[in-house]
Amino acid sequence: MGVVILGTGSCLPEKIISNHDLEKRVETSDEWIVSRTGISTRRISGKGEETYKIAASAARNALDVAELTADDIDLIIVATMSSHMLMPSCACFVQKELGADKAFAYDVNAACSGFLFALDCGDKYLRVENNKKVLVIGTETLSSRTNWQDRNTCILFGDGAGAVVLEYQDNNRGVVASNLFSDGRLWNLLYMHTAPSCNPALAEEDNPGAHILMEGKEVFKYAVKAMEGAVRDLLTSEQIELEAIDVMIPHQANIRILNKLVSRLGIEQEKVFINVHKYGNTSAASVPIALDEAKREGWLKRGDLLLVCSFGGGFTWGASLIRW
Ligand code: COA
Repeated sequence: MGVVILGTGSCLPEKIISNHDLEKRVETSDEWIVSRTGISTRRISGKGEETYKIAASAARNALDVAELTADDIDLIIVATMSSHMLMPSCACFVQKELGADKAFAYDVNAACSGFLFALDCGDKYLRVENNKKVLVIGTETLSSRTNWQDRNTCILFGDGAGAVVLEYQDNNRGVVASNLFSDGRLWNLLYMHTAPSCNPALAEEDNPGAHILMEGKEVFKYAVKAMEGAVRDLLTSEQIELEAIDVMIPHQANIRILNKLVSRLGIEQEKVFINVHKYGNTSAASVPIALDEAKREGWLKRGDLLLVCSFGGGFTWGASLIRW
């Protein structure tokens, strides 16, 4: 018995920004970016491609694959940290956009790990409410939260959305287990302010605005260690050997992080799905976009054991096992 993914979908904004385009904005080079990150291009939202709109597009694609309509959905959980408003939630805008009138909707913010955390919420909800259907979406327009003058960060991120439809089924497929973590003590290694406070008593002294700020080297080190630990602990607690994994979809942050993780775990490279070169780091959207692409490219067969893992600001991180 498990919570099964009935359909996947994704939506990438049309506009492609190459490393050569970035060379015109900041002092950098295609060679530097590719060698340090593996990223060649990323997508950037234009008019009509707001966070909730690309989320709704991804959701429609996932619903089509699942042969369902918005009317069938009972709950919408959106993982994001780049909604165009703080309130209402992005999920409420997605609900409106889809016309999913009977669904209730809320956001999860666990930065780049958001999709895994939201998937866990959907999984646990459906284990109680067995006859319902849930949309879980990761969506970001980090282009709106990027300091385009900061070469340390503007080369890394991209926009996009991915979605899955979940249902509880009486068989041995679906989410096997998840292993999620946070460590708020490390918040200041990767963070983003909101707008300055209207209450002077709560105003932060040095608020540069809603931009991503990062200690890249520290983030790199923690990301590898944290994801490796989450995966190893999950495999141990589920008594599953690494060799049993058929496909691994890690958060697409950076090819060097991924290569290091893969070599430390000792998983075969051919089992690891990678698309970071095309889209950069799309934060909460990265795992569901990769999942949708992997599915469409024939990486996943029924019964396969899928490992997903992620890391992000907070710090937040985790891993999940899914029997496809
Ligand atoms: N183009 C050219 N040079 C750049 C540059 C860019 N875009 N960004 C930084 N540099 C320079 C630095 O200024 C520094 O120059 P200096 O030696 O003269 O001071 C040099 O390159 C090395 O910088 P450093 O920060 O040490 O590079 P790095 O090898 O650590 O790579 C990152 C930087 C950001 C690519 C790397 O730290 C990283 O991938 N971190 C993880 C980021 C991440 O994935 N975050 C999200 C996690 S969810």
